[in-house]
Amino acid sequence: MTDRYAVIGNPIAHSRSPIIHRTFAEQTGQDLSYEALLGPLDSFTPFVTQFFADGGRGLNVTLPFKEQAYALSEVLSKRARQAGAVNTLMRGKDDRIYGDNTDGIGIVRDMTQNHGWTLEGKRVLIIGAGGAVRGVIGPLLAAGIASLHIVNRTPEKAETLADLFKGDGDVAAARYEDIPAGSVDILINGSSASLSGELPPVPAGILAECACAYDMAYGKGELPFMAWARAQGAAQVSDGLGMLVEQAAESFYIWRHVRPETAPVLAMMRELVAKG
Ligand code: ATR
Repeated sequence: MTDRYAVIGNPIAHSRSPIIHRTFAEQTGQDLSYEALLGPLDSFTPFVTQFFADGGRGLNVTLPFKEQAYALSEVLSKRARQAGAVNTLMRGKDDRIYGDNTDGIGIVRDMTQNHGWTLEGKRVLIIGAGGAVRGVIGPLLAAGIASLHIVNRTPEKAETLADLFKGDGDVAAARYEDIPAGSVDILINGSSASLSGELPPVPAGILAECACAYDMAYGKGELPFMAWARAQGAAQVSDGLGMLVEQAAESFYIWRHVRPETAPVLAMMRELVAKG
């Protein structure tokens, strides 16, 4: 029998997850279906419970339901607990609902394996303090970065987030004006500024020599943050399309115990996104 999977969000029409997972399934010969489901804003939990009661095997969860998915999970992975959010749900053999979060491992794999960046010992500055940023901090620390500073338009939110992680590594909130010149090895834009074509107010001159810059967003053309980073002399610059593909691959692995090859899927997605 074909195993049933889906991504659930609201809105959901533009989700790239179905094409990514169907391609993974084809590539690995897995007998599964994967569809996009519009989640009801007022009754997410019963909807998910019904999906699993009907025999569904796994769900990816996207905006605005990741925190609700966390709340309904009966068993949580460490990375889901750190993220405070779940993007991958699975019904276990014991029929319990397992919640995991693959976003952080997605960005780490994209940086290290796809781009060949080294994270060990690096001074990282991340812009933004919302759910997207919280999701990646644990795996970045686990990858061996030396320090993580968080800057945000609303500084109090950066402080709250830094407090959550200070037991896990050298994590602190920072103010834009206090970032020393040449002090950032890896700059990550995890704010949603790019989605509205805006550039966060990052001061000039903060990048170290050979710095890398990563925008967790992706879009048709080059994002303003990427152009800014290039002009600042960043040695390497990336958008977040690879993160999208890698988080999907990790979800696929959790469900099927098979690791898909991501390079051809990323190349296909790059073409699709370029077409708009
Ligand atoms: P997400 O799930 O994408 O993290 P979120 O929780 O709403 O969404 O967080 C969005 C983040 O992007 C926040 O850190 C937000 O800053 P505030 O905390 O000050 O709201 C940041 N952000 C959004 N638009 C921005 C902009 N134009 N410039 C700078 N930061 C922006």
